[in-house]
Amino acid sequence: MAGSGEVRNIPAYTIPSANRQVALVNRPGGIPQREDFALRKTSIPEPGPDQFLVRNIYLSVDPAQRGWAQTEANYSNPVQIGEVMRALAIGVVVKSRASTIREGEFLYGSFGWQDYAVADSPKILLRAEYPIPLEQHAALLGIPGLTAYLAFTGLGHPKPSETVLVSTAAGAVGSMVGQIAKLSGCHVIGLTGEDAKVTKCLTDFGYDRAFNYRSADLGVVLDESAPNGINIFFDNTGGMILDTAIRNMAVGGRIIQCGTASIAAWSPPPIGPRNEREILTRRLIWSGFIVLDHFARFQEAAAKLVEWYLAGKIRCETDIANGIEHAPGAIAALYSGQNRGKSLIFIG
Ligand SMILES: NC(=O)c1ccc[n+]([C@@H]2O[C@H](COP(=O)([O-])OP(=O)(O)OC[C@H]3O[C@@H](n4cnc5c(N)ncnc54)[C@H](OP(=O)(O)O)[C@@H]3O)[C@@H](O)[C@H]2O)c1
Repeated sequence: MAGSGEVRNIPAYTIPSANRQVALVNRPGGIPQREDFALRKTSIPEPGPDQFLVRNIYLSVDPAQRGWAQTEANYSNPVQIGEVMRALAIGVVVKSRASTIREGEFLYGSFGWQDYAVADSPKILLRAEYPIPLEQHAALLGIPGLTAYLAFTGLGHPKPSETVLVSTAAGAVGSMVGQIAKLSGCHVIGLTGEDAKVTKCLTDFGYDRAFNYRSADLGVVLDESAPNGINIFFDNTGGMILDTAIRNMAVGGRIIQCGTASIAAWSPPPIGPRNEREILTRRLIWSGFIVLDHFARFQEAAAKLVEWYLAGKIRCETDIANGIEHAPGAIAALYSGQNRGKSLIFIG
């Protein structure tokens, strides 16, 4: 079967007669590695009452999968050994026994790293029906775009001319935070781990300043580029970057703790400098954010992101591998910074 639709860029996809799955087979000590997963083939499941069968086209690779593969539950339960790896995906409905879901429609939801998933409506994050390329429903309108928009606007309370610092500045979430901060009239500084990504931040994502946190003296560059302090720090890394930036926050600054990409494992708890005095004396607000708590606002956020995207005000890059065999090593690749945009795997 072939897809069509120029604006939506729906790729040709097949309807295979078996279901390839990527299962978690080892409990990773830190970042999940290729050998922690195994590919297997099973039969195609049948949807029960109120369920549908979706043929996945794009599998999503997200930093959150590291947490889902661990033993301890954080904000969601761990994936059990032998289970299909939990993952977001974009797929097409091939059979439906759910009254609200029609065959042939495209959905973005929690469908796992596999060709086919039986699911019910609560597994859907968004109907992939906007006039944008299909894969952008997992990037611009997926977890990265929704997180950037909802966390930055909802917890950052940006005001024009404020100074914003973004870590993982060239990544899927960070690149969109940087652009939304610019659209909000802020002065925006980005931190990323490679010189080529620094250039991208400046040329493609509109950052005013950008630095390689691996080579720059962070305290010095933050002093220089934010002389009046940082008003909003959108932090995706934690660790040394947070410990340094917190000492450059302006009084009344807001820290949005969105990710902790620099911390490989939480057990035993990593040790670092004490920061409570910085929070107290600078009167900081330090907020944690989990995008799935904000499901009720996904449509509103998606509408705004699509408006900006179609008006050419925001860009969203994707990095698409081809073939399900890329899935086992994909989380490790993400944490080593190899991705250039939202990491996806085309398996259609
Ligand atoms: N709270 C939520 O609801 C939510 C939702 C989505 C994402 N997030 C978080 O947002 C962050 C970014 O996610 P994403 O999907 O946009 O991924 P991404 O930024 O596209 O890719 C992950 C990036 O993390 C950076 N990184 C890896 N190891 C690092 C280290 N030791 N120190 C500093 N940076 C490191 C790398 O960029 P560099 O090359 O620049 O180092 C890598 O490219 C993650 O922490 C993720 O957990 C949170």
